[in-house]
Amino acid sequence: MIVESISADGYKNLENINISLDPQMNIVCGENAQGKTNLIEAVWLCSGCRSFRGTRDRDFIGFDKETAEVGITFSDAVREQKIEFSVKRNNVKDKLVTLNGVKLPLISKLFGNFRCVVFTPEDLNLTKGSPDNRRNFIDLSISQVKPSYIKALNKYNNVLLQRNAVLKNMLKSNSTDTSFLDVWNSQLAEAGAYISVLRYMFCKVLNYHAKILYDSVTEGNENLDIKYLSTVYENLEGEEDYKGRLAEIYLKRLEDSAEADMKTGFTNVGIHRDDIAVNVNGLLIREFGSQGQARSAALSMKIAHAEIIKKECGDYPVMLLDDVLSELDPIRKRFILNKIEGMQVVITCCDSKSVTDMASGKIFEMKKGRIV
Ligand SMILES: Nc1ncnc2c1ncn2[C@@H]1O[C@H](COP(=O)(O)OP(=O)(O)O)[C@@H](O)[C@H]1O
Ligand SMILES: [Mg+2]
Repeated sequence: MIVESISADGYKNLENINISLDPQMNIVCGENAQGKTNLIEAVWLCSGCRSFRGTRDRDFIGFDKETAEVGITFSDAVREQKIEFSVKRNNVKDKLVTLNGVKLPLISKLFGNFRCVVFTPEDLNLTKGSPDNRRNFIDLSISQVKPSYIKALNKYNNVLLQRNAVLKNMLKSNSTDTSFLDVWNSQLAEAGAYISVLRYMFCKVLNYHAKILYDSVTEGNENLDIKYLSTVYENLEGEEDYKGRLAEIYLKRLEDSAEADMKTGFTNVGIHRDDIAVNVNGLLIREFGSQGQARSAALSMKIAHAEIIKKECGDYPVMLLDDVLSELDPIRKRFILNKIEGMQVVITCCDSKSVTDMASGKIFEMKKGRIV
């Protein structure tokens, strides 16, 4: 997948951006706070995902602007496509979103058309950080190749909120009548079993790809191993019956945990508490890994993600590397640049010197929200 052009105006501090990209290497350099990450974010939003910085829709719009407008043209092996969206200050809810000129009701409906992978300095903390970082990573990765996953996840999260609300009420009123939970338990079990299976299978594929990558960055001296850690199931190997057997186990687990849940006022087991264990030579990176190991593992997982998209969807995603190269030592920098060869990349950095060894491609300079 290749982005051919990007336009942005009034998106945060971006003004009058109209650039055409190199099919391979693109570098956006500039001092701090000039709008490099904003540009990456604007492209990212075209994938239909929420902002990786957690920006709310109304904050898309430049402080002194009425409208934020973003557009990209992109192509895969088959055809060229166009995505545009705009948000108006006086009507933030009612966005204008179009895919090839056809109106869509929401930015999230763009999902599944344009695929990219964003890599920020925070992602380097993927293996050391808290479990929700890793859950978000696999959830997003699975969604990108399997849009039905998002539905299950949204469903699960909604039902979980309801179940927790009931638990809080029970705690307040000292009630122990668990029958209030029944209707939520079965819905959680249904969605949770499906999500567990998909996550388990995804982690196996992720492990396969990431292992090979990690092997090459450490020249075979260390062994990476990634495993899904379920709070519900002891073993998911070979299990696929998420409508039957797995939903039953899930339900039983929720029922068994009801007593503890009533004491805490929230749901203690389930996919919202799961994690993935990332080990090097049998030791958990989160607890025992060096910073270097943690970073190599994070790089391997991110690149593996791109490989999986290629395998499942037939095309590499566009790689958006926001300020990560400057964080990496020469070996890891070479590793990532080497592995993403063949994909289109947009790299942001403060110092163009750090990337001037690039053989070809385009360099853009960002200044006060403009490409100069
Ligand atoms: N809604 C907004 N309107 C105008 N400017 C904004 C808005 N949100 C953020 N900014 C500005 O964007 C700049 C940061 O841009 P960013 O892309 O993070 O810079 P960097 O080049 O360091 O990646 C800051 O100057 C900030 O004030
Ligand atoms: Mg930045």
